[in-house]
Amino acid sequence: MSAPHHLFFAPCPSGLEAVLVEELEHLGAMTIHATQGGVSFQGSFTLGYHVNLESRIASRVLLQLSRENYQDEQDIYHATRDFPWWEWFSVEQTIKVKVQAKKCPLKSLDFVTLRIKDAVCDAFMKKKQARPNVDTHAPDIQIMGFLDDQTFTVYLDMTGEPLFKRGWRQARIEAPLRENLAAGLVKLSGWTKDQALVDPMCGGGTILIEAAQMARRVAPGLGRGFAFQKFRGFDARLWETICRASIAKQALTTPLSLYGSDRNAAALQVANTNCRNLGLSETITLQQGDVLHLQSPHEEGFLITNPPYGIRIGEYAELAKFYPLFGDVLKKKYCGWQAYIFSSDRRVPKMIRLLPTKKTPLFNGDLECRYYEFKLVSGGHRKSRRTASVAPEEMGKA
Ligand SMILES: C[S@@+](CC[C@H](N)C(=O)[O-])C[C@H]1O[C@@H](n2cnc3c(N)ncnc32)[C@H](O)[C@@H]1O
Repeated sequence: MSAPHHLFFAPCPSGLEAVLVEELEHLGAMTIHATQGGVSFQGSFTLGYHVNLESRIASRVLLQLSRENYQDEQDIYHATRDFPWWEWFSVEQTIKVKVQAKKCPLKSLDFVTLRIKDAVCDAFMKKKQARPNVDTHAPDIQIMGFLDDQTFTVYLDMTGEPLFKRGWRQARIEAPLRENLAAGLVKLSGWTKDQALVDPMCGGGTILIEAAQMARRVAPGLGRGFAFQKFRGFDARLWETICRASIAKQALTTPLSLYGSDRNAAALQVANTNCRNLGLSETITLQQGDVLHLQSPHEEGFLITNPPYGIRIGEYAELAKFYPLFGDVLKKKYCGWQAYIFSSDRRVPKMIRLLPTKKTPLFNGDLECRYYEFKLVSGGHRKSRRTASVAPEEMGKA
């Protein structure tokens, strides 16, 4: 534990790796490498505390304990059994082992998981004459194994409940965006706190809430618990100092222009409750209404939204009617704005009859989505190719 440098891996929603790299650079991480679905980095053990507290994009923070070549389950067992686990946690604490793999030649990951669990228990048995219990639901300590075709890496999960569970979402709606994905959408758009931001189909308000907390510099991890607090040697004083320093940097009175609306009264009530819980009722203006009938609140700004996906056939057809009308609204009422639409529905640009200026592939869990950028310019600005977002057949109609 005294080694000055540690290796970490932070998984994140696929497509947000570059944004996570920026965050990690800002937090002082070194030797940062993005791979699909996460970013590895190095730094002091304390950096792990900081990333857990401050990252809006990571899903969790894993501390790398070892990496070895392997050929079979026996190699994995021996590498795990020879590790001094008792330096990290005590035998009274419960454990869970989770294994993931890419191109792993071994037959059964369940068997690998079992061998790792046996190895940890045997290591404790040899050293302490007792073995830790397994708790697959709410373990004190989660051990993660990752196998590729040749190497076996063991991590200790520093996070526990994933980082997108910030602790503020007490009221729920159907299909809310995960908080780290919503934060990623805001960051990818380039929105800054001095610009207006609208989500006209805001549901529980996740996008606006993440934007507000980002602008007010409220660390997403404040007030929640982390797995590292159960590690042997957890420095509670240092953790308190880090949290206090983060609170001291908050800018709660930053003036912001954030607007949310939704046609569904129940969704809006959830957004209201979420905002109230976070002290954001005065910061985010919420209104019930249909996006097709509301006016834009400013001359220019950012519109970021995650419209409903059509899962059932009826919904799919309904959306085909909705999108052209939404496209008309964008052209008529949001001229001068930048619009960002996050959807798994590949028909979006065609249906709203606008050419996206950017299309970023992003995953919402396992669902492959696109994040479309539309720069909505008035007729006079259509010369530049990048901003000519109105589709040719629509020119003149907007
Ligand atoms: C996928 S959800 C948005 C979830 C939201 N991003 C969140 O994290 O909570 C889509 C929302 O669009 C709303 N909606 C659908 N059609 C609408 C319309 N025409 N005008 C306003 N809101 C609409 C639905 O009520 C729903 O709350």
